[in-house]
Amino acid sequence: MSAAIPELKQFDEAELDRVFTGLEAEVAAQARTLTSGESLEAFRLHWLGRKQGRLGQLSAAWLKSAPAPAKPSLGVRFNQLKAQIESLLQDSLQQRQAGSRGSGLDITLPGAALRIGAEHPLVKTMAEIVNVFQRMGYSVSLGPEVETDFYNFEALNFPPNHPARDTQDTLVIAAQEQKPLRERLLMRTHTSPVQIRSMLEQAPPLHLVIPGKVHRNDAADATHSPVFHQVEGLCVDTNITFSDLKGTLDHAMKAFFGSAVKTRFFPSFFPFTEPSADVQISCIFCAGKGCRKCKHSGWIELLGCGMVDPAVFEAVNQRRLQMGREPVYDIRKISGFAFGMGVDRIAMMKYGIGDIGLLYSGDLRFLEQFA
Ligand code: DAH
Repeated sequence: MSAAIPELKQFDEAELDRVFTGLEAEVAAQARTLTSGESLEAFRLHWLGRKQGRLGQLSAAWLKSAPAPAKPSLGVRFNQLKAQIESLLQDSLQQRQAGSRGSGLDITLPGAALRIGAEHPLVKTMAEIVNVFQRMGYSVSLGPEVETDFYNFEALNFPPNHPARDTQDTLVIAAQEQKPLRERLLMRTHTSPVQIRSMLEQAPPLHLVIPGKVHRNDAADATHSPVFHQVEGLCVDTNITFSDLKGTLDHAMKAFFGSAVKTRFFPSFFPFTEPSADVQISCIFCAGKGCRKCKHSGWIELLGCGMVDPAVFEAVNQRRLQMGREPVYDIRKISGFAFGMGVDRIAMMKYGIGDIGLLYSGDLRFLEQFA
């Protein structure tokens, strides 16, 4: 596409018209031959290249030899020519892109590979758990990951300095010391604060599942990650009993893991439930016979639960009063149960994942297995 620089003898408008019409025709003719990415780039370099570009060479030569009165007109014409070249380049580029998306004609172009995403195993597991409860009439409630001490601890009946706070190594937000304890910000250590937030917003009856991310100051190893996930549940109504809790969780475990799964409940302690229980399911790997996965016990510990402690309802009522709302959680009429489970452990069990870190590594070789 290289061409000599013609010498211009005359710079009157008629001559410039003739010369530039010729150049425009040359540009247009070349543009029609641009079928490949390489020819497009060659065309661009030929005309607009910084050092050897024809446009630059022409304008340098002609502007130098032109008499002063002709220079403005020459300048305008070069600018128009440049705009024409750029817009042709733009058009060709767009046509090629449209073509590579499947609507163009150049079937020799490589197709634009659309990489199909896949649900992350954690998100998938969380959605499946939530779905089990939605089918029982529960709705989904969400809350913030940056919480106040009040929602994460105080309203859940963890008094200041209560030893139960030590069991949840809390990641606190910096520079909160000047605030009253209850207003200090921290990363929520569990999804339970959303119980409180929900009861402040809604009057009973409540049937809620609360999926979400939680944070603890745990050193990372094969079974611990400072970030992990929980699904919380809260059911509050009149006449809710421990039998409702047992029946609901037993049904949920069978719906999630298969109808052969059995559940059993052990006494436990959480400040916000009384009585509290830990729930085990019969080992899904050995059907309860005993294997390495269940440490030969036949059972796998899966979640914590209990009847909502009246102190929690009282804290909610008090706060509702402060907010100008009716204290509708009357502990003489209302009762409820709550539960919380770790999603990561369930996902690891379900997919045979040996290291929790894989769930957070962003490693495509791991993630692609779930596509
Ligand atoms: N929040 C507890 C934890 O993170 C789990 C839990 C236990 C939640 C019992 C509950 C419950 O709602 O009733 O260890």
